Order: sequence, then C-alpha cells, then structure tokens
Amino acid sequence: MPTLEDLRAEVEKLRTDLEERLDSVEDEASLDALRATFLGRKGRISQLFKKLGTLDPSERSEAGQLLNGLKKAANEAVARAKSESRSARLAERLDVERIDMSLPGAYRPLGHVHPLTRVQQEIETIFLRMGFSVATGPEIETEYHNFDALNIPVEHPARADWDTFYIDESTLLRPHTSPVQIRVMEQTEPPVRIICPGRCYRRDTQDATHSPVFHQVELLWVEEGLSLAHLKYVLELFTHEFFGEGYEMLFSGDYFPFTEPSVQVHIKAPGAAHWLEIMGAGMVDPAVLEAVGYDPETYTGFAFGLGIERMAMLKYGIDDIRVFLTNDLRFIRQF
Ligand code: FA5
Repeated sequence: MPTLEDLRAEVEKLRTDLEERLDSVEDEASLDALRATFLGRKGRISQLFKKLGTLDPSERSEAGQLLNGLKKAANEAVARAKSESRSARLAERLDVERIDMSLPGAYRPLGHVHPLTRVQQEIETIFLRMGFSVATGPEIETEYHNFDALNIPVEHPARADWDTFYIDESTLLRPHTSPVQIRVMEQTEPPVRIICPGRCYRRDTQDATHSPVFHQVELLWVEEGLSLAHLKYVLELFTHEFFGEGYEMLFSGDYFPFTEPSVQVHIKAPGAAHWLEIMGAGMVDPAVLEAVGYDPETYTGFAFGLGIERMAMLKYGIDDIRVFLTNDLRFIRQF
C-alpha cells in the first residue's frame, strides 16, 4: 500500500518533469500537448488523484492538499509559459515590423514639364493674351478635312508634299494642324480667332531639323478687312514676345493650296549663321472659305502653322531635333 511519503516523491518528480519540459517547449502546440499530458482528464496529475483512495485514511487529507497544491502550481506554470511565449512572439514581430519614423523617407525626384510642353504653353499664353482661343482636333483625320476642304483635291500633286501615313483609303495620321481650321470654321460663324496646338506625323526622314513625329501650332483669324499686313504685325508681336530681343525675322514667298499669297517665315537667333524656317503662312484662299460656307467677298483671313520643335531649338540653342525624343535626362534636366 503506497504511503504519503511515496506520494510526496511522485509529486516532486512530476514537478521537476514539468519544469524541465516547460523549459524546452518551443511553440504553443507543444505547450498544449504538455498541458494535456500533465493536466488533462487522464493526465499524470489525475492519475495521482486516483491514488488518494489507496492511502491510509489518516493521510488522505494532507495528501489531498498536496495534490491540489500541485495542480494549482502546474496550471499556473503552464499559463505563465503560454503568456511568455505570446509576448516573445509579439516582441519578435515588433522587432521585425517596426517602422523607424525618424529615418529619412525614400527619395522620389520631382519631375517637371517637357521642354516641348513648356514651349507650347508659352505660345498658348501669348496668343490667349492677344484674344485667341485654343481649339483641338483629332490626330487621325479624314482625307476631306486634311486635303479636299483645304483646296487640295484628289490627284492634286500637293497631296504628295505632305508625305502622309494612311490608316485606310480615307483616313490618315494628320501631317499638319491645318484640318483643325476646317473643323472650327464648319462649326462657327465668323469672326474666328483660334490657335490649334497638336501632334503631327510625316514620312520625313529623320535629320537634325526633321522628325516623323513633331508638333505644330496652327493659327487662324477670319474677319472682315484683314490683310497680309495684319498677319505680319501679329507675327512680329508674337516673335518679339516669345524670343525677346536680338532675333531676326524673314519672310519669303511660298506656295500652299489653302493660302494665297503664301509665305514662309524664318528666324535667326542672335549671332547664328543660318536662318531656320519656323512656319508656313498666308491669306486664307477664298476656295477654303467657300468650302466651309463663308462668303469670301465679305470675309478675309490669315493662317499659319508653326513647328514647336523649331521654336524650342531657336530659343534654347538646340542644334538637333532628335534630343527631344531620346529621353536623355541630362538634356531634360536643363529645363
Ligand atoms: C504646313 O504644314 C502648313 N500646314 C502650314 C500652314 C498653315 C501654311 C496655315 C499656311 C497656312 P509646312 O509643311 O511648311 O506647312 O510645315 C510648317 C512647319 O512645321 C515647318 O516650318 C516646321 O517648323 C514644321 N515641320 C514640318 N515638318 C516637320 C518635321 N518633319 N519635323 C519637325 N518640324 C516640322
């Protein structure tokens, strides 16, 4: 028959076993398993309680207290181990996921507008101040707006001058912004005073002053009593505002089916050896006014189409148009 002393020895052994095994527990699952082994319904402590009945009745009360003490201590030890493992995991997470608010942030460089956009905006600002408004049109154009309405009928040799990219039989990538003139006049009664900035496409071989994709600003003013002298005055005002002092302007004769007479405008930067052609211009041909239903006996007008890249090249002393498109940050950052 076991005695109280035997039970005491077993209790001590169980205590040390539990302590040792708690020490080596690594996760919550094995802690739960450990709890079942010691404190479960059929666990080691329950087994000891069963032995109470085999003791001498005079020892049972003390033995009961001993076992209750053991059970309480074991419960506490397991609960402590559990909370320690939780706080250890929390500490670990805090360590890994901590954000140090005092560290400098990731550097994100601030961009700015492309020099071509900037030049376009400057041109718009000048003409808006003169009382023009800004109109836009599609880059994929109809042959009618790009050619026919501009007095360039089918089979007219001038169609070939524009080196056009065709999409299908009757639509194309616009080679100039002049079709926007037609679209605006179709929708508006005179007087008309607009500029139309936009992208153009031509099968031009790339060189220092030509790109297959480039930008133009079209201008159109139609009203009673306008003459070439008004065109020249507007251009002089504009180039002076845009370039400042020291730039020279030269007019030469040209031919466009949609203007009569037609001129070409060239600019020379201060100290430069050469003139650079910046635009085609002229008095709107009466046939164009008729095509949009304006009476050419009452109204006259003038128009031009200037190249934005060429304006930027002259203003900033850039000698090759290709730099606008290469995305070289060393170039872009200078603006
Ligand atoms: C025209 O495109 C006419 N529509 C301009 C016009 C409008 C005349 C209204 C009369 C009335 P032109 O093909 O010359 O004209 O082009 C005008 C300007 O666009 C040129 O002076 C040049 O500055 C620019 N340009 C033309 N082709 C290119 C190109 N491939 N690369 C860069 N700029 C170009």
